[in-house]
Amino acid sequence: MKKIVILGSTGSIGKQTLQVIDEFPDKFKVIGLAAGSNVELMASQIKKYKPKYVSLSLEKNVGILKDMLDNNIEVLSGANGLLELAQIDEADIIVVAVNGIHGLRPTLAALDKGKTVALANKETIVTAGSMVMEKSRQNGAKILPVDSEHSAIFQCLEEKNQRSVDKLILTASGGPFLNYSFEELKRVTPKMALSHPNWSMGAKITVDCAGLINKGLEVIEAHWLFKMPYESIEVVVHPQSVIHSMVQYDDGSVLAQLGCADMRIPIQYALTYPMRIKNTFPKLDFYKINALTFEKPNLEKFPGLALAIEAGKVGGTMTIVYNGANEEAVHLFLEGKIGFTEIPQIIGRVMFMHKSLEKYNLDDILEIDKWSRIKAREISISIKGGI
Ligand SMILES: NC(=O)c1ccc[n+]([C@@H]2O[C@H](COP(=O)([O-])OP(=O)(O)OC[C@H]3O[C@@H](n4cnc5c(N)ncnc54)[C@H](OP(=O)(O)O)[C@@H]3O)[C@@H](O)[C@H]2O)c1
Repeated sequence: MKKIVILGSTGSIGKQTLQVIDEFPDKFKVIGLAAGSNVELMASQIKKYKPKYVSLSLEKNVGILKDMLDNNIEVLSGANGLLELAQIDEADIIVVAVNGIHGLRPTLAALDKGKTVALANKETIVTAGSMVMEKSRQNGAKILPVDSEHSAIFQCLEEKNQRSVDKLILTASGGPFLNYSFEELKRVTPKMALSHPNWSMGAKITVDCAGLINKGLEVIEAHWLFKMPYESIEVVVHPQSVIHSMVQYDDGSVLAQLGCADMRIPIQYALTYPMRIKNTFPKLDFYKINALTFEKPNLEKFPGLALAIEAGKVGGTMTIVYNGANEEAVHLFLEGKIGFTEIPQIIGRVMFMHKSLEKYNLDDILEIDKWSRIKAREISISIKGGI
């Protein structure tokens, strides 16, 4: 039995990880759960899975949670609670499914302990790619990608042909506004941005997807996970989300991974790796697929993608700025304080104000992340015409 810790168990990835575990009760045991503020769902997860270790983001919710439980389980809290869960001795896999920069320190802590990390949280790699990969190498700790595109590439990369990879091809659904004009994009509301045509996800990543910023984060993630130069990572818009990504080899062969748009498949692959085990999830029906189409992303309409690639190519601390400014701008958009097209504008302006550093440590990352958020807020106030 593999012992699993889930950081972010009440979120979209966390809940789907538990669904995968439900499929294989004799293969996995949940030993740790961490959540943010959804105390009720956490209480019902504790009753069902009986983990030994539990953590909530806010200390003030600990008593409320305990009142909902019959047993006297110890409940940790805050950033330290998350760190403790990431380092539990008996854990086999730490699933990092918290959103945003909150994933960074627990991921580093788990890797320091030599733990296998099933990584959904892309912001960790975007802000600290070199540090994360170095810790994984030094401590022999595996990183298994959960993001469907990176799981697809991971599955298509042939060990024996690593030097013959020509390029990685990341597919993008294009989001709900693929065919909108720039004028129409200006009128996109949070409600519109929160409904994705193919995937059901947390709010922040759904907004990221709608502006192709998520794809930008994924390009940076692919650069670090698979050690590929940015010039060898291509984004292709594929609205059907059947092909989850591809690897093109030097001889012109392309290997692709296909499947239903169901995150439980890449989550399961990370948990059962290297095995593929029969499940009851829906399977692709090729008779029902009319066409698979592909097109180039429109970087003028969706400049957030171009900015991510630029941040990645500049390197150093610029991707921290890209990520921090984006997280803040997405919050502002969801609060109704800025318009949809102002998200990439703000990111670009914050990036312009930053001089990238080549050498930096964890404290620098957190400091630059904070600075980027402050600048994003300041710029948002100076922007007129928010919705
Ligand atoms: N959803 C997808 O299909 C998908 C696909 C690929 C990659 N990802 C990546 O996976 C990560 C999670 O995405 P998601 O869609 O699952 O997000 P989500 O639905 O918003 O869930 C986030 C989870 O993190 C918890 N959380 C937030 N702040 C926390 C803190 N300070 N301490 C402890 N827990 C905290 C939340 O708890 P509460 O809800 O209790 O507040 C929730 O359980 C993101 O980095 C995203 O980019 C997601």
